Amino acid sequence: MNARPQATAKETDHTEAPSCRRSSRILAISPLLLAVLVLAAAARTGGAPCDKSDMAALLAVKSALGNPPALSGWNSTVDCCSWPYGISCDANSGRVTDLTVFGREISAPIPAAIANLTALRSINFAYNQLHGSIPAFLGPHELPDLTFLRLDGNRLTGPIPPTATVFNLLLVGNQLTGEIPETFADAVFGDVELSDNQLTGDASMLFGAKKQLNALFLSRNRFRFDLGRVELPEAMDILEIDGNMVYGSIPAEAAARKWLSFNVSYNQLCGPIPQGKYTHRFGPKHFAGNKCLCGRPLAPCT
Ligand SMILES: *[C@@H]1O[C@H](CO)[C@@H](O)[C@H](O)[C@H]1NC(C)=O
Ligand SMILES: *[C@@H]1O[C@H](CO)[C@@H](O)[C@H](O)[C@H]1NC(C)=O
Ligand SMILES: *[C@@H]1O[C@H](CO)[C@@H](O)[C@H](O)[C@H]1NC(C)=O
Repeated sequence: MNARPQATAKETDHTEAPSCRRSSRILAISPLLLAVLVLAAAARTGGAPCDKSDMAALLAVKSALGNPPALSGWNSTVDCCSWPYGISCDANSGRVTDLTVFGREISAPIPAAIANLTALRSINFAYNQLHGSIPAFLGPHELPDLTFLRLDGNRLTGPIPPTATVFNLLLVGNQLTGEIPETFADAVFGDVELSDNQLTGDASMLFGAKKQLNALFLSRNRFRFDLGRVELPEAMDILEIDGNMVYGSIPAEAAARKWLSFNVSYNQLCGPIPQGKYTHRFGPKHFAGNKCLCGRPLAPCT
């Protein structure tokens, strides 16, 4: 029954410029084939073809992920810059710059073949069931342009590798253990999101007046450090550290900050809450469950 459409498709594959009449016949027979042709045409006019070794690496990634149905559009007969899902390329070089496989219920370790996609700027594998540890190649040492790494909502275990000094590092909601690597002290971060793991130890090296860090999410881990001794980075307007074992006091400069988000509840903080224009809007839920914080919006200091 479908021998004819198949034959037609084959024939058309070898035809340089199908006539309009022929195209409309193909449309009637195979909208999917037309979509492929349109995408291929777009790839020709829209930029350089996909880098060959990047394409091979992506097919190795797909295979390592178990060829999931979600990635059926990653087809070796189609230029990878035209794949319907998950890939962006640099228009001049044809190198793959962005890799997104978000919320596709993929259960696998992070594929080693990603290390060969050396022009990647962003990787987003959030909300799958990735397991195993975070490989050491996911950082600027092996992927020099990588500034965005999002792996939140998976089942990753083990420590954060010292090489994961990615400007925007989003690892919320895994089962990561161990301490923040020492290499993070001298690295440049904009956004560090590590909430809902089982991380321990010091996180104070992420702070510092001169740092670019503007958002820090550490909630619900087991971090333990003296908040009274840190300098808030000038750009910081999000600080969520609730549910740890952070001690000391809240830095005075917190009072003058225009916070987008702030939560220090359920730690072991002490002393007067710095009072200012923005912290004045905060209710008890921003500060609850500490050892001996006092002053508005909690009970007065005695
Ligand atoms: C790739 O696309 C071609 C042409 O549309 C199709 O014949 C082939 O079955 C596809 N391959 C896979 C692995 O999906
Ligand atoms: C990376 O590419 C090289 C050369 O193309 C190849 O030999 C190697 O197997 C690839 N690595 C992975 C992890 O796919
Ligand atoms: C702060 O965090 C605690 C504990 O995670 C939560 O119950 C509370 O609602 C949060 N407060 C605000 C203002 O977000």
